[in-house]
Order: sequence, then structure tokens, then C-alpha cells
Amino acid sequence: MTSLLLRHIGELVTNDPTLGDGTSLGLIADAGMVVEGGRVAWVGPSSAAPAVDAVQDVGGRAVIPGFVDSHSHLVFAGDRSAEFAARMAGTSYSAGGIRTTVAATRAATDEQLTAHVARHVEEMHRQGTTTVEIKSGYGLTVRDEARALAIARTFTEETTFLGAHVVPEEYAADPAGYVDLVTGPMLDAVAEHARWIDVFCETGAFDADQARTILDAGRRAGLAGRLHANQLGHGPGVQLACDLELVAVDHCTYLDDHDIAALGDTGTIATLLPGVEFSTRSPYPDARRLLDAGVVVALASDCNPGSSYTSSMPLCVALAVREMRMTPAEALWSATRGGARALGRDDVGRLAPGARADYAVLDAPSYLHLAYRPGVPLVVDVHRTRPA
Ligand code: NIG
Ligand code: FE
Repeated sequence: MTSLLLRHIGELVTNDPTLGDGTSLGLIADAGMVVEGGRVAWVGPSSAAPAVDAVQDVGGRAVIPGFVDSHSHLVFAGDRSAEFAARMAGTSYSAGGIRTTVAATRAATDEQLTAHVARHVEEMHRQGTTTVEIKSGYGLTVRDEARALAIARTFTEETTFLGAHVVPEEYAADPAGYVDLVTGPMLDAVAEHARWIDVFCETGAFDADQARTILDAGRRAGLAGRLHANQLGHGPGVQLACDLELVAVDHCTYLDDHDIAALGDTGTIATLLPGVEFSTRSPYPDARRLLDAGVVVALASDCNPGSSYTSSMPLCVALAVREMRMTPAEALWSATRGGARALGRDDVGRLAPGARADYAVLDAPSYLHLAYRPGVPLVVDVHRTRPA
């Protein structure tokens, strides 16, 4: 096995508080990192690095764990830029736009959908993302959900069944019949390709009882639950996620004190998606309030054609710092280790011995530049040990 030393790392973010400066980012200045067999084998001061087979000098640049984007909807076809333009002219976002993408996705071939996902995964990778979760949810038939997840599975092990995204037009008069389809034949057809099951629990999509029924069925089929909740207004989804002790609940834009207390008590992670508030011109969630209450926060892109068509985790970090009162250190942690935690993963989102050697090199001396220099393509080199 060949060993590679990255040396003269200006600042290494390990996300291991037992290393370096002892903060949650575990920062090591003028660091070295040895990679062997796709894993981190050693980290420490550059001057103390062990003998290795090959050396790469990174010239004082910062090295961070690859971003872990724990929430995306990449299996889709079509374009909704006109809907975005209308929103910027004053129209508000509604869940109904999802049906536009459903029609385009159903009409696309497997090859078109696969090429489309590949393009977006590659776009994410160029911006430093090394692990991505991908949901279905724009097929909403047994065939279309199963093929969406089969395609997603070729790119990532973190695949999520979101048949309960909205009730499709053909079931408009029979939403209960659609829940039966999702929890019956659709779940049977997708289970082998999915690790997670998700529900859009919101007015205009699915209520708390339907969400509970769907998540229970998913659990019986071996899938772990996650939830879209409290995006468009205050609702019961965050409480439900906490009752069910889900690993993460996503959006969390509208929260009351009970929601925050429940998140703090149960340890369910609040995944915040600032690309959505940017793209729907909505108020940003108050991350500071969550963090001060001891809630674990993750950041993700929610990349999708309707509410957040960005694949950029650096943008999410910058927005979280500027608009959500997170410090740069908190935002980077949430976009890396926080994302990993939201996927129940310990092998990614950190750069300590034993972890996967998934990292990004920044053309900057410190991770601080991710928020300090928003919009600048600072990621110059990315390494990942397997498909995102
Ligand atoms: O996470 N909120 C529900 N689903 C997506 C939006 C999907 C769409 O508008 O196409 C989201 O924001
Ligand atoms: Fe989403």
C-alpha cells in the first residue's frame, strides 16, 4: 500500500477535538496528513511527519474534510427558472411546483436522468463535496420511484425514498389511496435501493398522521426515517421527528420554543438548508437560537430545481455565517461533521486517523475564507475514496 504525505498544510481541519487546538474543529497549524489505503493514517505537525512513499507539498493552503451534503434531490429533469424569476418578482413559493418537475422527470429516459445526476454530482465534487445523500420524489409512481433510487444508488449509498413528496395529480381525489401506494407496492419496489425514507410533512403535502404511517412502514421495511418539516410555516413535523427519535429533521425554518426544547432533549439533528431561504426569499432559520439551546445543527444544499438550485456547500457556509448567526467554525463543522452525523456516519466529515481520506484543499490559508470570500471558487483539489 502506497502512503502519501500532504505537507505544509497551512491549517488542517480535523474535526477531532482531541487533536490540535482542542476546539471542535481540531485545528492543526503547519500540519501534515498521511493517507494510506484511502484512510487517514496520521495527522500532526508537518515537521514530525513519518517516512512515506510519496509527498505532496500543499504550499501553506488549508485542508478541510470534504463536505457531507446530507440533503439533495438530484434525480430530476426539466427547468424551473421561470418560477424562480416569478418569485424574485414577488410570487411566493408553493409545494405545487413539485408537480412540474414530476411531469418532466417521468418523461425523461433512464439515460437522461443518469447523465443529469452525474453532472450534478461532479459539480458538487468540484466544490468540495465528497459525500452526498440523494432522494427520489419526482417520480411518484412505483416504476418512476424505483428507477430514481436505482439511479441514485449508482452514485451514493446514501439514498432516500421520498415517494411522499406530494400527492401526484392522478391521486388528487384520493390522498389516502396514495399513502397506501407509498406504504405498499412502492415501498416494496424501492426498499432494496434505499437506506432512508423521508416525508414532506407540510400543509399542501402530508400531515403528521400520514407522515407517521409512512415512516412506520419504512421502518418495518428496514429503512431509517428522516423528515422535511417546518419549511413553509410552523407545523407538527419537528415534534414528530423528535417523538420518533429520527436522526435528523430538515428545513426547521419555523420553530417555537417547544420544538427547540424537543430537539435539544432528543438529539435529533436540525439540518438547515439556507439555499432554500435564499432562493425562495424567505426568512432564514435562527441557527444561533438552536446552537445556544444545545441542538446539533447540520447544513446541506437541498439541491433541487424548485426551492434551492445550488450544489454549493461553500455558499451554504457563507449564508449560514452571514444570515443565520453561525460562526465560521460552527458553519464549517455543520457542513462536514454535522452532515456526517445527520447521516449516522462516523467515517466521513473528519480527518483523523482511521477516517476516510475525503478532503478538499482550499486556495486560502484558512477555512475562514469560505465565508470571508463568498462566491470565490476556493476549492482547488478534492480527494474522495469512492463515488460521492
Ligand atoms: O426540500 N420541500 C420539499 N421539497 C423540496 C422542494 C422541491 C421542489 O420545489 O421541487 C425541498 O425544498
Ligand atoms: Fe428537500
